[in-house]
Amino acid sequence: MYSEQTFSLENIQGLSQKQLEIHLKLYAGYVKNVNALMAKVAEYKKDSETHAIACAELMRRFGFEFNGMRLHELYFESLTGNGEIMDGLLAHAITARWGSIDAWKTEFQAMGVMRGIGWVLLVHDPKANTLHNIWVSDHELGHLGGLPILIAMDVWEHAFMVDYLPAQRNEYIKSFLNNLNWNIVEKRFTT
Ligand SMILES: [Fe+2]
Repeated sequence: MYSEQTFSLENIQGLSQKQLEIHLKLYAGYVKNVNALMAKVAEYKKDSETHAIACAELMRRFGFEFNGMRLHELYFESLTGNGEIMDGLLAHAITARWGSIDAWKTEFQAMGVMRGIGWVLLVHDPKANTLHNIWVSDHELGHLGGLPILIAMDVWEHAFMVDYLPAQRNEYIKSFLNNLNWNIVEKRFTT
């Protein structure tokens, strides 16, 4: 069973409390659904022949619900800073990969306004000692196998629709980056 996490989200610049409350309720729904799905699959497995189709469909859905839960946790956890990028190991790795922090940020922001609903993630490939900005559709389509997520930026419209129009997605992205807690991001990279 998974438990809903709590986050201290006060005075977030550019994102209203109402927006955050609505978003946190959606997150809670994913936690609830992960638990409900696991319970239902366990129940169906007692008579797997009768419930084979239903069970398979529920198991296919697990990635959507689980990643919906986990990506939101990564998102809210990191929304507690002032956007300053500290000079550390991650900044050095970003510079090695993109040439400069600004070049990385420009690509990350540009990916955030790509059409569609999903996430933009900065992920770490420890095996090749490199980083990637990637697009994930919905919550589960496009992940790179086994690569830890350093930054998770939600670009579903529900993440900003209270405060911004769809055409203002870039303003929302700036707000997300302005509140990013780099200490947390650095920690994800170094531990
Ligand atoms: Fe979301």
